[in-house]
Amino acid sequence: MLPAVTVGLMLVSLTCGENPAVQVVLTNKGLQYGKHVGTGWIQEKLESVTLPDISGKLRIGIIGNIDYTLSGISVTKCDLPEPSVEFYQSTTGFKTSVSGLSVALTGEWRAHYGIIHTSGTVSLAIFNVDVTSVVKLGNDTNRHLSVSSVSCNAAVGGVDIQVHGGPSWIVKKVVAHFKGKIAGDIRDRICPNVEESIAVLEQHLQAMNVSFDVNQVVTLDLPLTGLPIVDASSLNLGLKGEFYSIKSPTEPPFQAKPFTVPEQPGRMLSVGLSEFTLNSASYGYYSAGALQAVINDSMLPKFSPVHLNTSSMGPYVPGLPKMFPGLLMSLQVYAREVPLFSFLPGAVYLDLRGAVKAFAIQPNGTQTPLFKLNVDSLFSSKVWIADGQLKGSMALNNLTVTLVSSEVGTVKTDAIQNILWKASSFAMIQVNRILAKGVTLPRMKQAELVNTVLEVDKGFIAVFSDAQVLMTD
Ligand SMILES: *[C@@H]1O[C@H](CO)[C@@H](O)[C@H](O)[C@H]1NC(C)=O
Ligand SMILES: *[C@@H]1O[C@H](CO)[C@@H](O)[C@H](O)[C@H]1NC(C)=O
Ligand SMILES: *[C@@H]1O[C@H](CO)[C@@H](O)[C@H](O)[C@H]1NC(C)=O
Ligand SMILES: *[C@@H]1O[C@H](CO)[C@@H](O)[C@H](O)[C@H]1NC(C)=O
Ligand SMILES: *[C@@H]1O[C@H](CO)[C@@H](O)[C@H](O)[C@H]1NC(C)=O
Ligand SMILES: *[C@@H]1O[C@H](CO)[C@@H](O)[C@H](O)[C@H]1NC(C)=O
Repeated sequence: MLPAVTVGLMLVSLTCGENPAVQVVLTNKGLQYGKHVGTGWIQEKLESVTLPDISGKLRIGIIGNIDYTLSGISVTKCDLPEPSVEFYQSTTGFKTSVSGLSVALTGEWRAHYGIIHTSGTVSLAIFNVDVTSVVKLGNDTNRHLSVSSVSCNAAVGGVDIQVHGGPSWIVKKVVAHFKGKIAGDIRDRICPNVEESIAVLEQHLQAMNVSFDVNQVVTLDLPLTGLPIVDASSLNLGLKGEFYSIKSPTEPPFQAKPFTVPEQPGRMLSVGLSEFTLNSASYGYYSAGALQAVINDSMLPKFSPVHLNTSSMGPYVPGLPKMFPGLLMSLQVYAREVPLFSFLPGAVYLDLRGAVKAFAIQPNGTQTPLFKLNVDSLFSSKVWIADGQLKGSMALNNLTVTLVSSEVGTVKTDAIQNILWKASSFAMIQVNRILAKGVTLPRMKQAELVNTVLEVDKGFIAVFSDAQVLMTD
């Protein structure tokens, strides 16, 4: 039955198209910041570039061939004007251009003709280099983000070359030869280099995992659900955002609903997280059998007014002390249904439907069933981000205890409900103490989130943030 339902649901989700449960939006502000950081990085890289040796033959009238080699060519100075980068709708990608790039290089030259060897140094200045590159974003067969070059154009405005050393007539020939040729050579090398960098980036994207084991129970799946969406002001990536139980990976009996992350051009990034993501985690834990526990007396705090033994439970189950005098008890607590989260403007709700089976522990270790209760509760919580910390507060809104079955006569559910409410309220105080301290937002080695705001909307949470790249490497 369950496999049939699962297959059915998977077919539905395939035919109807899958809604992303996680959306990542890069705004133009983010793109421009990325470009700014990237430009500094490229400038630094360019300044440490060493070019491969260039060898060739130069034919000079009656002398014949002069063999020459340029070696150890390195960049001494690079003037990289701030490039322009924009979202490019027509290719679902970006268009980047830089104009007026100038580079100064030095190196050594060697030449020989017949038995004569000569050498010297060379300085090159390449100026007014213009490069325009258009890339396309897409998805590959593994539903990874992919990037590819659509077009690349390069032009070199001019080259200045100065050769030092060697007999002057050779120098003249060499300079004349190079001036005509080197601008074209350099121009022809730019786009293959740009395209290679894009290919390297693509390799990194392909190697990236889109599935992460969170712990031993659940794994988080984050492949693309569709093609990236690019418009004039943003890039939107839709990701699956679904947790699965590692042991029994099945589709939950609910699906991600579509949602739209509100526009927030004042922040670099927006991330939308559907309640589906949280609920798929809940379903993963539930189907892995992780949402159950056995509670015995030694786990209760010493100061608890009630203890898990048959005499202490007398006020709630009057028949118990007579039927099973002087025995310790244990409680088997579990979720009856998948606990479900719902996001509503300003608050997150958790609907928890649980059950409790009570047992008496006989002296020989046998567990004798006593009674079974259903305990349904509704929690609400507020979450926000302050000082880079995710903070929250939680409250118990409703708690209902109902009797399912009893082997020991009357069970006073109202009294049990009262004591559970008190115990929960006490637990909430502890939980809120922790939530008020907050959890530090995830932080990478290279970047951190700043100016982060969190907003709970109907069906999803939106996080708007700026990022700050830490200049470590
Ligand atoms: C990707 O996941 C596999 C298996 O979980 C792991 O072995 C590998 O190291 C991961 N790769 C990266 C780049 O994290
Ligand atoms: C991903 O790309 C392939 C082509 O490479 C395309 O056939 C497929 O429909 C795309 N998938 C999605 C979910 O967009
Ligand atoms: C209660 O449970 C803990 C952990 O399962 C166990 O170590 C302990 O012996 C149990 N205590 C009693 C009184 O059964
Ligand atoms: C049962 O709990 C009460 C406290 O509520 C305690 O005084 C009593 O000693 C306990 N009995 C057993 C058998 O543990
Ligand atoms: C353990 O004790 C209970 C009550 O005295 C009895 O009903 C049960 O048969 C015993 N179980 C075993 C395995 O001895
Ligand atoms: C608590 O839950 C019960 C049963 O679901 C419901 O009848 C009652 O109205 C709820 N109370 C509040 C305050 O939500």
